[in-house]
Amino acid sequence: MDTVQKKNISVRINGAKQVQQVEPRLLLVHFLRDVLGLTGTHIGCETSICGACTVMVNNTTVKSCTMLAVQADGADVLTIEGLAQGETLHPIQEAFWECHGLQCGFCTSGMILSAHQLLLRNSNPSEDEIRHAIDGNLCRCTGYQHIIDAVQLAAKTMQARRRTSKQKAVSRKR
Ligand code: FES
Ligand code: FES
Repeated sequence: MDTVQKKNISVRINGAKQVQQVEPRLLLVHFLRDVLGLTGTHIGCETSICGACTVMVNNTTVKSCTMLAVQADGADVLTIEGLAQGETLHPIQEAFWECHGLQCGFCTSGMILSAHQLLLRNSNPSEDEIRHAIDGNLCRCTGYQHIIDAVQLAAKTMQARRRTSKQKAVSRKR
């Protein structure tokens, strides 16, 4: 007989509300992968070292192996599955593709979400700032230079797109 009392949680995952009953000991990473089937979030060490399980909770990156699913009750969670707009990849995803920012891809979803948080608060980061932002994400294939190139390219693309949409908005007002 199952004696563990489950708790109801309500979490917005990639913009969609999810209401589920979970065991209080269930880690957020297991909730995402095993309950919701969002397997783009990877499990490497389960001891908060590798960053493969990085997701965003309320716009802050979190290693989802260090957080219980019940602690995400009421939160907004973004996983790698929520970054693209339909068939259109996010500029960071495009840049990883362009710059060969991945080899086996195991670290990639976590790297991309760490880069995403960086670019939300700093649209033009230096190489040192990028290295600092991803210092909690380990790449076992050690392709760090290509990853940094990818984040720099994504920053440039995002700046250019922002400029274009501002110009369009100004010309619409004229
Ligand atoms: Fe979470 Fe490694 S699996 S930090
Ligand atoms: Fe293989 Fe980073 S691409 S672990």
